[in-house]
Amino acid sequence: MQDFIKQIEECKNLNELESLRILVLGKKGKLTEQFAKLRNLDAESKKELASTLNAQKEEFNQAYAKKFKILEQESLNEKMKENIFNFTYFDKNAQNGALHPVMSTMDKIIEYFVSLNFSVEKGPLIEDDFHNFEALNLPKSHPARDMQDTFYFKDKRLLRTHTSPVQIRTMLKQKPPIRMITPGAVFRRDFDLTHTPMFHQVEGLVVENGQKVSFANLKSILEDFLHHMFGDVKIRFRPSFFPFTEPSAEVDISCVFCKGCGCRVCKNTTWLEVLGCGVVDPNVYGFVGYKNVSGYAFGLGVERFAMLLHQIPDLRSLFEGDLRLLEQFR
Ligand code: PHE
Repeated sequence: MQDFIKQIEECKNLNELESLRILVLGKKGKLTEQFAKLRNLDAESKKELASTLNAQKEEFNQAYAKKFKILEQESLNEKMKENIFNFTYFDKNAQNGALHPVMSTMDKIIEYFVSLNFSVEKGPLIEDDFHNFEALNLPKSHPARDMQDTFYFKDKRLLRTHTSPVQIRTMLKQKPPIRMITPGAVFRRDFDLTHTPMFHQVEGLVVENGQKVSFANLKSILEDFLHHMFGDVKIRFRPSFFPFTEPSAEVDISCVFCKGCGCRVCKNTTWLEVLGCGVVDPNVYGFVGYKNVSGYAFGLGVERFAMLLHQIPDLRSLFEGDLRLLEQFR
């Protein structure tokens, strides 16, 4: 037996060790053969031999297990050496990646406002009712709270349905003046040609002390912004409603697809809606403890901007990861 223990020590790899194990404990192994002899012995001798054999088996197994661990680690180390990453390798044929059109559109939007000294604020994707709805003057019965639109967690938290809660968070931690945008993902229970359950918004907020800010300021900055994004388009402001702004407007640009002739995308209206905006409703200031201030806010969907900039007809194709689409943006 001591011979086998010595052979275990001498094994150089896991294969050798396994061969040895079979030689000793396999079906026709040396030790197995000894065990077979027990059958023909009388009770007294059987007991004696069995105890010797079991002790030997135990000794072998222990030595085997110890060696196995060592050889296994060595073999792992070898494999690691083979797969080691070569940081100096340069593949001349590698293809460059590119920004996803949604991200490049987002960047273009952010760059515009950063150049006007807007700060860029971020907030959590998982929100509570107060920040996502209540502080934005959304009454309990507002359809936006409907189960149809909002993803709720069991504990009543929710996935934010717009980036507006970041306005609230920023106003709660900062005094006016505020000049901010907040880009990021938002979530709604919606899925068709023009809606996906996750999409991106950029929202803006300006608040000044006193009554300096008016709808005229809002109109002028948005007109400049839309010309920056879409070039020479016509722009119109249409009265609308948002709980957190008063007065509110939706902003249309002349259709970038048909240039005013009427087409499927603009549904023959020659106009495309691109923005929601308005003068901040005084009720909102009440929720964040602001007094004697004035301001405006606006919000837009980044995917919609990307579609219009790049003439992509189906919103969902932005999320399919199809290289045939993405390669066009390299
Ligand atoms: N939060 C609004 C939405 O998601 C957009 C909006 C923002 C409208 C700010 C007006 C002012 O629909």
